[in-house]
Amino acid sequence: MPYKPSELSKPITVQTLRKMKADGEKFITVALYDAPMAAMAQRTGVEAVLVGDSLGMTVLGYDSTIPVTMEQMIYHVEAVARGNKKSLIMGDMPFMTYATPEQALTNATRIMQAGAHMVKIEGGAWLAETVKILTDRGIPVCAHLGLTPQSVHKLGGFRVQGRDEDTAGQILSDAAELDEAGADLLVLECVPTQLAKRITDSVSMPTIGIGAGRDTDAQVLVINDILGLTEKPPKFSKNFLVEAGDIPGALHKYAADVKNGIFPDDSHTFS
Ligand code: KIV
Repeated sequence: MPYKPSELSKPITVQTLRKMKADGEKFITVALYDAPMAAMAQRTGVEAVLVGDSLGMTVLGYDSTIPVTMEQMIYHVEAVARGNKKSLIMGDMPFMTYATPEQALTNATRIMQAGAHMVKIEGGAWLAETVKILTDRGIPVCAHLGLTPQSVHKLGGFRVQGRDEDTAGQILSDAAELDEAGADLLVLECVPTQLAKRITDSVSMPTIGIGAGRDTDAQVLVINDILGLTEKPPKFSKNFLVEAGDIPGALHKYAADVKNGIFPDDSHTFS
């Protein structure tokens, strides 16, 4: 029977998402930044919301996520937490606020105290110790591999990662180390579909794809892309407002299309 989005009936936890992975049930994630959108996500049954540091580009007008500060993240996490009492709320840790495990612990504490249920950090095996320190102390962690926007200057632009054997192997082994260290979720951004599938099949934590094909355990899109607000939308995104006609309809259509295996299709993926 096709899935029809409806209000979340109870709070979503890390355990809910792990069970959904085990049952082969996809979950929905939206990156959003304010209370009304967060409330609409709850009404639409969006299991996880990400207060992404993408807000630097989507809301604040910067060219990258690098200028985003802890104060800006805390302000938006607090707003989202006021608007949504049921979805799992993830808060991004800004550039260089987790460069050492000590910094990560201090700054993750602030994001959690603002109302997040989990923090998200970008990077590979070098973060394994940080993941262990945070999770051992009760702070769930979402890792982020592939295109990691905070490293845009090192990567030479916002481009697909893991297309050759060496980089694909590196992402695979990073995922394994972060899984082993205790990470709870993994965002895979702009990687070939086949690589995302291999990682999803090999790690215990649920994976959330964006430009990573349809075989991840969940999908995430940025609310601005869903609503057609982005001047040059990325290939992996889709404007759901065009077909849906209004904002609640666009969010419903995104959720239904992911759950029903309609989004993403080949035109949104990379090989
Ligand atoms: O900051 C963000 O919104 C993100 C998503 C694009 C995954 O990291």
